[in-house]
Amino acid sequence: MPQNDPRDPSADLPWFDAPLDDPYADLPFADEPWEAAPPPEEGEWAGSPGVVPQGSFPAPGAAATPSRSRTATAPGPATSAPSRFATPLEALKTVYGYDAFRGDQAAIIDQVVAGGDAVVLMPTGGGKSLCYQIPALVREGTGLVVSPLIALMHDQVDALRANGVRAAYLNSTQTAPDRAEVERAYLAGDLDLIYVAPERLSNVQTLALLQRGTLSVIAIDEAHCVSQWGHDFRPDYLALGGLAELFPGVPRIALTATATRETHREITERLHLPQAKHFVASFDRPNIQYRIDPKVDVRTQLVSFIRSQPEGSAGIVYALSRSSVEQTAEYLRAQGLDAIPYHAGLDTATRAAHQSRFLREDGVIVVATIAFGMGIDKPDVRFVAHVDLPKSVEGYYQETGRAGRDGEPSVAWMAYGLGDVVQQRRFIQQGEGDRATKQRQNQHLDAMLALCETVDCRRANLLGYFGQSLSGRRSLSEGGGTDRVEGRSLSERSETKGAQEPGEADRVEGCGNCDTCLTPPESWDGLIPAQKLLSTIVRLQRERRQSFGAGHLIDILRGASTEKIRKFRHDELATYGIGSDLTDAQWRSVVRQMLAQGLMQTQGEYGTLTISEASGGVLAGTTPVKLRRDVVTRAGASGGGRSAKRSAAEALAEGDRGLFEALRAWRAQTAREQGVPAYVVFGDATLRALAEHRPAQASDLVGISGIGEKKREAYGEAVLEVIAAEG
Ligand SMILES: Nc1ncnc2c1ncn2[C@@H]1O[C@H](COP(=O)(O)OP(=O)(O)OP(=O)(O)O)[C@@H](O)[C@H]1O
Ligand SMILES: [Mg+2]
Ligand SMILES: [Zn+2]
Repeated sequence: MPQNDPRDPSADLPWFDAPLDDPYADLPFADEPWEAAPPPEEGEWAGSPGVVPQGSFPAPGAAATPSRSRTATAPGPATSAPSRFATPLEALKTVYGYDAFRGDQAAIIDQVVAGGDAVVLMPTGGGKSLCYQIPALVREGTGLVVSPLIALMHDQVDALRANGVRAAYLNSTQTAPDRAEVERAYLAGDLDLIYVAPERLSNVQTLALLQRGTLSVIAIDEAHCVSQWGHDFRPDYLALGGLAELFPGVPRIALTATATRETHREITERLHLPQAKHFVASFDRPNIQYRIDPKVDVRTQLVSFIRSQPEGSAGIVYALSRSSVEQTAEYLRAQGLDAIPYHAGLDTATRAAHQSRFLREDGVIVVATIAFGMGIDKPDVRFVAHVDLPKSVEGYYQETGRAGRDGEPSVAWMAYGLGDVVQQRRFIQQGEGDRATKQRQNQHLDAMLALCETVDCRRANLLGYFGQSLSGRRSLSEGGGTDRVEGRSLSERSETKGAQEPGEADRVEGCGNCDTCLTPPESWDGLIPAQKLLSTIVRLQRERRQSFGAGHLIDILRGASTEKIRKFRHDELATYGIGSDLTDAQWRSVVRQMLAQGLMQTQGEYGTLTISEASGGVLAGTTPVKLRRDVVTRAGASGGGRSAKRSAAEALAEGDRGLFEALRAWRAQTAREQGVPAYVVFGDATLRALAEHRPAQASDLVGISGIGEKKREAYGEAVLEVIAAEG
């Protein structure tokens, strides 16, 4: 883009830096094998429940034929894994060291243990894993877990083993002997859980193997991957509906953190779950504080935001393009922060190394495109920052949701400005896709902009988008094609999070933990400035057949004397200088909000400003223009960070902090020695409980959250030593 083009809005905007490379190139897992498969025709499943798409699953009979191939599943009697616990609660206490179920967990587990199917919509970090892991431990046989996250299966299995669960996985990263060993263990009844990548399940041999043993439950995790419209679509997921006939009588449970009704309906239909019971949790994440600041100088703002966080906080910074990821990471490093880049343009080894550092070390900041994130189950991500505007509220919710999976206070911070609006509209306008597609993209963007510009509670806006309210109930009448929706709030029922009575919650106006609740923004009547701006645009178009970007229009209104103004003789316009009562920043805020509200629009390659259908009402004075007064907070200086500052360590009494740090150091060393992420050893909440209770002997460890039988055996002594040494 030529930097001096008179119509180039970016020429006027200092933070609108380098031209973007293709923002759509960064779809997750671009190098995985399923990427190449063409998506099936829409409607393939319509009217044919129970019919497996061509070329996916073999007929049940075929799969049952014992394989004589290299997989060495020699014929012979298979043994099923015995039930390990009589009740779900016993499993919860003994294996995980937790004392109570959260939210709907108990009801979901009961449904599956009794042999019924379930569809579970629960937010990130809500505790979906236990909903299939515990049934697998209680029922006879092995639990099959289908998960698209090959890169993370290893860590997931490690975490289970650390708790004494007999778990293994089958995927393409394995050697043949390793695979054969897993197959043997499965048939011998030595596995409680087996994780399998979806593409493995279109393999006749894998199915034959699974059919020879006994499955206790089939869990389809990240079930939204079945949705063709979502950005995580995996063609292999479409074939999973066939599991219903291949394993009759085995309960199936589909789980996702995607909250939209459309996805909910697609999961139910495509995975063939007509009889399933539906569990829709509240999508509120009460421990995440939402903050959206007007963009001024985004990198400085980002750094001061990060510095306002407790030292050593792990975080993710999302940017739209690869170049912006690289530059931002470099900038943060230059400021002395431990930041590393992640995007699909890096080679596989570098990406794996960066992901692994983020997961395994404390306090690493990843700067990434949306290629980073799905299934990252690091529980102690303390902040997620956006330096570019996400394309949709779904995207924003998913990305911010990666903060605070451990339930500890976390912050979702974003800087958003006029350039974001202009840029995104332009991407849509110039992107491929028919009118309907563009219309949908514009709707997504509109919803995102409404969230950014709201003068009301961010959380209420966000939940409203998913058809929920702050009290956490989705209205049953709008069940989105499913009739047995049980809406319940996690926060409502979890004792630890300051629950409210449902009736009381309805009266609560804001959440008290977002920027607009903490520092309510003022609104002001922007009608006159809006009219001044629109009439400048109209005059330029009518009298001169010209159109310009925001920066130049603002110069005209403020009566600036720039070269461009003199060259075009814009000082002769009737509107020249009529807007000198507002500052440059205030004008930008006006332009941004008018664009967000559709009171004008951008056009063409350079995103110049032009009138929209709604502009007429503004010019006539019949459409009110209610604007939000921007408050540029000095990150860290305002009250915004209040609860965020209370990390696990800081929530501790002064006297317990030294012990907490000693335990953290012990954990880091142990994790390194064992080659597992720190949280596989113990989570922050467990370390905090240890620092507070200071157990003196092995029996004191019982009842500390997160320490089950196996971990008590493995780490109990070492932990007691650390505590004794600290006095
Ligand atoms: N009943 C419980 N008591 C205490 N902690 C729990 C309980 N259930 C789950 N957790 C913990 O909550 C965290 C998140 O759980 P889990 O990994 O199952 O989330 P998830 O719903 O699968 O999220 P995602 O969508 O990100 O995959 C884990 O650290 C888990 O051990
Ligand atoms: Mg999960
Ligand atoms: Zn709020």
